[in-house]
This record gives sequence, C-alpha cells and structure tokens, in this order.
Amino acid sequence: MTQSPLRISKAVIPAAGLGTRFLPATKATPKEMLPVVDKPAIQYVVEEAVSAGLTDVLMVTGRNKRPLEDHFDRNYELEEALTRKGDAERLAKVQESSDLATMHYVRQGDPRGLGHAVLCAAPHVGDQPFAVLLGDDLIDPRDPLLARMIEVQEREGGSVIALMEVDPAQIHQYGCAAVEPTGDSDVVKVTNLVEKPDASEAPSNLAIIGRYVLGPGIFDILRETAPGRGNEIQLTDALEKLAARHQSATTAEERLGGPVHGVVFKGRRYDTGDRSDYLRAIVRLACEREDLGPEFRSWLRRYVTEEM
Ligand code: UTP
Repeated sequence: MTQSPLRISKAVIPAAGLGTRFLPATKATPKEMLPVVDKPAIQYVVEEAVSAGLTDVLMVTGRNKRPLEDHFDRNYELEEALTRKGDAERLAKVQESSDLATMHYVRQGDPRGLGHAVLCAAPHVGDQPFAVLLGDDLIDPRDPLLARMIEVQEREGGSVIALMEVDPAQIHQYGCAAVEPTGDSDVVKVTNLVEKPDASEAPSNLAIIGRYVLGPGIFDILRETAPGRGNEIQLTDALEKLAARHQSATTAEERLGGPVHGVVFKGRRYDTGDRSDYLRAIVRLACEREDLGPEFRSWLRRYVTEEM
C-alpha cells in the first residue's frame, strides 16, 4: 500500500520587518500588534492558519517584537483578575489567543529581507511543504484562500503563491507574475516573476499577495539567492528561479523543486502595514461586527452624508 503524503501542518509567519510605513506608531510597537477593531492584526493571521488546518506556527521575529510572544502566551495576572471579578466573557477573550495553536519563535537578527526571514524557518520546517503567511497581510476570514492553496499544492507539488488582480498603475508596488492558464479557472501556472516592475514592463496585472505554500526545495534556492531590490534577499527572486528552472527542466533532478502555481484570489484583503488599507480594514470589519456594527454603521452613514 502506498502511503499518502503527510498533510501540511506548519505555518511560518514572517514578522521581523521594521514597519517604517507606520512610524511613529511602530517605533516601540510591532506593526503586527496594531489593533484591527479589538484584536491585533497578527491574531487574524494566526486564526486564518488554524482554520486552514495548520496547527504548528513559527513566527519569525526580531528586536522590539516581544509583544508578539506575550500576546500568544498566557497572562496569569490578567486571567486571575478577571476570574476574581467573575468576568467570564473577557477571560475567554484573553485565553483565546494562547489556546489557538502550538507557537514557536525564531529570531531574524537582522531584517535582511523576506527571503532571509523564510530561510530562518528552515531548521524548524525540515523536509516538508509549509505555508507562509505575512504577518501584516489580512485576508478577510469570510474569503478563505489558504485552504485552496494547500489543496493545489497537495495535487500539483512544488510551490503555490497567491495572486490578486490590481490596477496596472499599482503593480510597481508588488511582485508580479507572468502566467499560463490551467484547467481550473482560479489556478494559473507561473512562468516568471518580477519584483516591483514598472507598469510598462509588468508581464500582467497579477500581484503577489502575502500567502505562499512552499516546497522545502525553496530553502536551497534561498541560500544561493543574492540580495536583490532594496539590498534584501527577496522571496520573489527565489520563486522566480524555481519557476524558471522548472520551465526549462530536461532532467528529473531539475524538476525536483516542482512547478510554481498561482491561486487567483478574488476576495477581500488588507495590507495592515499600509495606513490607508489599515483604516479600510478597521471600518469594514467594524461595520460587519454584530456587536459594534449597527451603531457604528449608522454613525458612519451620518458622518459621510452630513459631515464630509
Ligand atoms: P514589508 O515589505 O512590509 O516590510 O515586509 P516591513 O519592514 O515589514 O514594513 P515597511 O515597508 O518598512 O513599512 C513584508 C513582510 O515580510 C516581513 C515583514 O514583517 C512583513 O510581514 N519581513 C520583511 C521580515 O520578516 N523580515 C525582513 O527582513 C523583511
């Protein structure tokens, strides 16, 4: 009997970036801890990993990121105080984040780029495919993406990236993919990747967003990847090499890393490291909350019609 491969169970969350777009808020507070309504942005990301079936989470952190570890740990003092007060509802909220998943942490001493952050996860991940979720990228919990990416990776092997159509005028802010269609309308084969291209040179308007399901072969490529744009080791550059190698492969060995596929996401996504997108995330999620929504929506309506 052939054994079916192990299901993907490990998530890596790079959260060691400096968050300079959000200064001065991020001078002493990690941007991942900024609240989206009443939960830090990072908790949505860990919850997303857990709902896609990933139970082992490795966070790549750095200096000033201690609050991330504290948030997913127990806080006995607070728990005791709430227990004494008989406030079961708030106690449950405090305990929620520490009960979510098995959390691990590794430090990226110097923020040398997203590719380098992913490489810091190699000893923990070992020789199996794994998911990467960027800590400042929030996918609306009602629009699942990661579970579909895992499904595609388990079927096709190799690596799978998340893509989203953007206004061509914005493509210079993203990694951009050249693609070919597949039999599935939401899945494409990635033939080339370019980090932050000028609109005139972009191969498509498909932007890479912060979710990846990667084969372990990416680590060897990352080790050989020289710093690129911004003098940082770019994950996009390593994935580009992987895609190119598979495209031109003639031997089984060259095909080892597997193909790169893209899942085209059409749902709601917010870059919480960007101030405007962060505000949009808060307004949208607050409007849709059962507890806060009704009152907030009617205030917002009044504000827009009467005060703007
Ligand atoms: P960003 O490009 O958003 O960079 O990183 P940043 O430093 O976090 O933020 P800005 O641009 O200065 O405001 C994308 C993701 O990669 C992680 C970040 O934490 C974020 O989740 N990252 C980036 C690392 O973990 N390490 C790095 O060296 C760079």
